[in-house]
Amino acid sequence: MQLLPFVEKLNSENKLLHISKEVSTDYEIAAYLKKYDGRPMIFEDVKGSQIKVVGNLMSNMDLFCEWLDTDKLAWIQTLKNAIENPGTFKETGNNPFMFYEPDLSALPILKHYPRDQGKYITSGVVFASRNGIRNMSFHRLAVLGKDRLVGRLVEQRDLHTLYTDAKEHGEDLDVAIAIGNSAGVLVAAATSVERGKYELGIASALERATIEVVHAKTNTAHYPTDSLIVLEGKILHDETAKEGPFVDLTNTYDVVREQPVFVIDKIAMQKDAVYQAILPGGNEHKILMGAPRTPTIYKALVDSGIDVADIYLTEGGSGWLDAVIAIRKKSEEDPKKAFEAAIKGHRSLKKVTVVDDDINPRDANDVNYAVTMYWRAGKEMVLDNVKGSSLDPMATPDGFGSKLFIDATRPLNVPEEKLLKMKKASIDFKIDG
Ligand SMILES: Cc1cc2nc3c(=O)[nH]c(=O)nc-3n(C[C@H](O)[C@H](O)[C@H](O)COP(=O)(O)O)c2cc1C
Repeated sequence: MQLLPFVEKLNSENKLLHISKEVSTDYEIAAYLKKYDGRPMIFEDVKGSQIKVVGNLMSNMDLFCEWLDTDKLAWIQTLKNAIENPGTFKETGNNPFMFYEPDLSALPILKHYPRDQGKYITSGVVFASRNGIRNMSFHRLAVLGKDRLVGRLVEQRDLHTLYTDAKEHGEDLDVAIAIGNSAGVLVAAATSVERGKYELGIASALERATIEVVHAKTNTAHYPTDSLIVLEGKILHDETAKEGPFVDLTNTYDVVREQPVFVIDKIAMQKDAVYQAILPGGNEHKILMGAPRTPTIYKALVDSGIDVADIYLTEGGSGWLDAVIAIRKKSEEDPKKAFEAAIKGHRSLKKVTVVDDDINPRDANDVNYAVTMYWRAGKEMVLDNVKGSSLDPMATPDGFGSKLFIDATRPLNVPEEKLLKMKKASIDFKIDG
């Protein structure tokens, strides 16, 4: 579903929290989003801007499922199907946008945390285009001036690869940064698929529609006709600037790095545009980052022959660094195989706990029960100085750090009386009332 109809739907269901008093883009809106994390909000009177701000739209799994029109049991399958069976999209000549000369100060871009570099766009999906290859992905963008941004491009991500190729040829990279997108575009943009596969087809499959795009006015990029605000421009091949500090997913300040500069040539805007804010380190950020990784972990596990019961990227691990995997264990090798597959499916994982399928990965107490009861010496593995996530505060700035695997499954083939000592007992007696 597109963003405005979803906001309207939330409003009609009395789920939208309205803030009607004047609020500042400097810290105040971010403070509200943090205080009411998990509740969708609209800020109707934003100091210094005509444009309303919406936030926390996908800040719990119910909202995520509602916006994607799926449910809590089916969402992993919904995402997996969309990745495996992408839809189509088409270019249209019907351009619904009004175009403005670039002036980022007219947009309600937020300052979130006191030591952040400055104002950051956090919900921008970068549509890039180079020699017929297209890519879409999220990138945080710090405002440097009225038409200039500096963006964080993690090495080895597709946008970084396209940028590096352009740079090596002494060329700028064409981009359009879309803010205020449909659920399908948001989730597809957070999905990592094989290099060269364009995520917009996944967005169409998630939206169950043929997404329409318009050709950018100023370059070769394109963007959906239902995005609300779009910054057309390029990533300069010959200019970098300092990016950071910035509070990221783990609620810690990411370090300062030299990153590429973006120049904006035109701003395209819908008549009724609102500005979408995603609170860094908030639930929505964690859900958007982590949820699209679950089907890739699932696939890697199934491909290595594991019978998977459930996968959960824990809140404590910021929905990114820590996974609990419940399996129907067939051999004593399965837990370690599951760990190896999981880190192949999602390389950023720092900790993986494998449990039996009678343990609920979403219940931290249940998982702790399994670890405490079933772990024994030798049923763990520690890797050091391996590629993980640059978001891990203990890793190097380019993401080299440690990984921990805990096998919290019970041994197989134990005699009945031993199993009785190991398994949680239940009382199978139906009581009245
Ligand atoms: C809200 C949000 C913000 C993100 N910010 C960044 C970022 O600043 N830099 C980055 O490289 N990836 C960022 N990501 C992750 C990428 O967008 C994501 O990994 C994407 O799948 C990469 O796409 P690719 O497979 O085309 O490289 C962010 C993801 C989300 C959901």
